[in-house]
Amino acid sequence: MKVLVCGGAGYIGSICNEYLIDHGHQTVVFDSLILGHAEAIDPRTSEFIQGDLADRDLLTKTMVNGKFDAIMHFAAFSLVGESMKDPGKYFRNNLANGINLADAAVAGNVKVIVFSSTAATFGEPEEIPIRETTRQQPINPYGESKLCFEKVLHWYQQIHGLRYVALRYFNAAGASANYGEHHINETHLIPLVLQVAQGKREKIMIYGDDYETPDGTCIRDYIHIIDLAQAHMLAMSAPNCGHYNLGTGNGLSVKEIIESARRVTGHAIPSEISPRRAGDPPRLIACSDLAKKELGWKPQFEDADTIIESVWKWMKKHPNGYNA
Ligand code: UFG
Repeated sequence: MKVLVCGGAGYIGSICNEYLIDHGHQTVVFDSLILGHAEAIDPRTSEFIQGDLADRDLLTKTMVNGKFDAIMHFAAFSLVGESMKDPGKYFRNNLANGINLADAAVAGNVKVIVFSSTAATFGEPEEIPIRETTRQQPINPYGESKLCFEKVLHWYQQIHGLRYVALRYFNAAGASANYGEHHINETHLIPLVLQVAQGKREKIMIYGDDYETPDGTCIRDYIHIIDLAQAHMLAMSAPNCGHYNLGTGNGLSVKEIIESARRVTGHAIPSEISPRRAGDPPRLIACSDLAKKELGWKPQFEDADTIIESVWKWMKKHPNGYNA
């Protein structure tokens, strides 16, 4: 299939782009490079268009000329903490600019859009594990902006016949052999923990140890990026619309992640307890049975050490990420 990968220079987009090419698809990457890296775009990509989703004319032209079978939409802001300080940034890009993309998809007669949604749409969930039927009540603007766009896609399907699949990722982690996670201002737990092992940081701050969890620290469901990529490829060819939760079903606390990183790196990784971070729910764990049943998804990486090992290998090869 011919696929437009929006946000294909970012962390998740770049690895999905690589995965699609590995599996025989033709891809075009569309990315503003505000957060993405040109070095993260697989050189086998047939074209790179540097552009912003705010640019409606460029999007329409791209879509009408490109004759794409599918769009993958990774181009969004995704930091819970930042969204609690600057909600407008999140609604403008993740919602308003997303609508530009959906309009262009309709203009270009694209058949399907696979949307990167998030566990953050559930807020503090009423049940664990979280199913597709669990009530979505976001507790931060990031999750709300993604939920709003899921609803936009529902109406575009109803009215314009644009098929969509919303994949609600839990905590994306891990690296491929060639591409990994490099954010200018890193806020994610696993890369920060490993930066301590690299000697770039003195210690890792644990944001709160007074949550109602067994060791008092927040629990998340860390899913390997290659398993996410597999789900995207399957979703693109699925016959129907759908919403799928993607995780391993194993919850790991902040302290357990630090322990795993100690095992993988052999570094002591000092830590310190600090206050809670605004907008963090205590526990997010997925039930992904529906994706397995309906998409035929078969995740391959289930344990923290394997995920962290893949990141550590990438960091050893790229100690400064994509910066030379
Ligand atoms: N944490 C720390 N110290 C740090 C960084 C993070 O204790 O230095 C904690 C956080 O408080 C949280 C956990 O580690 O409890 C994971 O934090 P991340 O920042 O790595 O990830 P989040 O769970 O906040 O968010 C991620 C993605 C979102 C997505 C969410 C879904 O960034 O886009 O997972 O679960 F919505």
